[in-house]
Amino acid sequence: MAYSEKVIDHYEHPRNVGSFDKDDPNVATGMVGAPACGDVMKLQLKVNEDGVIEDAKFKTYGCGSAIASSSLVTEWVKGKTLDEAAAIKNTDIAEELALPPVKIHCSILAEDAIKAAIADYKHKKGLN
Ligand code: FES
Ligand code: FES
Repeated sequence: MAYSEKVIDHYEHPRNVGSFDKDDPNVATGMVGAPACGDVMKLQLKVNEDGVIEDAKFKTYGCGSAIASSSLVTEWVKGKTLDEAAAIKNTDIAEELALPPVKIHCSILAEDAIKAAIADYKHKKGLN
């Protein structure tokens, strides 16, 4: 299977790899796994008092498409509000990276990671 150039670029030069302190009250952590293949993705968002995502980091144990999807998402969420980040769809990710059908679940993992991080943030702040 051929990976698109964008997947290879993000895979070889992943943006924003790493972690924040998950106990920081302004850090949201989303950890999700893909039952289909066992890959795991951790996405962390640093949110300022206006509810804007100032920074993002990820760690992904998985295939090239999962790494590329999470790398892309860390770039996309920066400067967005949580609501705007929640609107990012796996189809946007799959389209940007030209993922083939067999790799669509890798982009779903990234969408799920955003949603999990936002849920974690709301939980931390007592918003839900
Ligand atoms: Fe092997 Fe995802 S299935 S890394
Ligand atoms: Fe399972 Fe990519 S996340 S193959």
